[in-house]
Amino acid sequence: MFYNCDCIEGAKKYLPDNSIDLIITDPPYGIDGNKLDKHYNRNENNVIEGYVEIPKSEYADFTEKWIGQAERVLKPGGSIYIVSGYTNLRHILNSLANTKLIEKNHIIWKYNFGVYTSKKFISSHYHILYYVKPGEKPTFNTFAFYSDSEKSANGGSLNYQDREDVWIINREYKPGKIKNKNELPKALLSKMILYSSNPNDLICDFFLGSFATAKVAIALGRKARGFEINSDAFLYQIKQIKNIQPGCMLDELREVPPNKMTNRGKSFNSNEIINILKDFKILINSGQTKKSAINSLSEKYGRGYWSILKIIDGTTNKSSGNKNIDTN
Ligand SMILES: C[S@@+](CC[C@H](N)C(=O)[O-])C[C@H]1O[C@@H](n2cnc3c(N)ncnc32)[C@H](O)[C@@H]1O
Repeated sequence: MFYNCDCIEGAKKYLPDNSIDLIITDPPYGIDGNKLDKHYNRNENNVIEGYVEIPKSEYADFTEKWIGQAERVLKPGGSIYIVSGYTNLRHILNSLANTKLIEKNHIIWKYNFGVYTSKKFISSHYHILYYVKPGEKPTFNTFAFYSDSEKSANGGSLNYQDREDVWIINREYKPGKIKNKNELPKALLSKMILYSSNPNDLICDFFLGSFATAKVAIALGRKARGFEINSDAFLYQIKQIKNIQPGCMLDELREVPPNKMTNRGKSFNSNEIINILKDFKILINSGQTKKSAINSLSEKYGRGYWSILKIIDGTTNKSSGNKNIDTN
């Protein structure tokens, strides 16, 4: 269901407490119209009229209210991704700090077509604030795109690279097509949806714009809800979304090979530790680097790279323990 109304009033009226699995949303940025066009670096032909901005003076209060509603409607364990420029980021961060939502990541989305400026650096990124509601285990499909042992051409882990918090994803160039002021690319939306939801989950966008979140959610076999206050955009897009075949993008997804680290998370027994240390010595004596020896051992023992490293470092130097592990 989609509603042509203000998201704060709409959420109060139509969305029960604890009913939404995932919110992905891109609120108005609180910058005035002319600057907005420059900000998006494009000409205004084909852009749907009537994009509603929030005046600067009201931005803090407006943000506090819609984020309060978002917190209420999320299920315990539900996730929220908020896309924001830098201008009013502080208000979004302040409002999030006033909720019980837990910060998972502050993602930087780097895109192409930055706004050309000659007297300062060119702005070509957005912030994406990824938070979860406490109370249940959040959905995080660690291997949504890559298995634990797929490697890039230079030997790095594709899974690791895909889960870094700087995302380089190009905007879609749609010459001649009717669009909203700021349409999020499918690849960006798919990434958030596939990591943080499962088929049939309910996904909500408080600021639908071109309905991009809802369209990708439906195409990935999820259900969608949302609000858009601009009647022109709403009436145009509500017809378009009927053309999306539920689940149609699922067939296009690449099949992720099975994981090889089948012992990940299990505790080590003393024999295994002794064998790992023996094997490590043999590999190093045969001329392998520490990194490649650990990679071989990780495959052999079905263990993650870091847990093998911990075993090795626990004996080869006194300061064992991996300082790069974040338990959040
Ligand atoms: C940045 S755009 C969203 C773009 C969208 N993510 C997309 O991919 O097309 C923000 C949208 O919020 C709408 N909007 C502004 N105030 C609103 C409100 N109070 N309730 C619902 N929608 C609102 C604007 O009209 C605009 O379409």
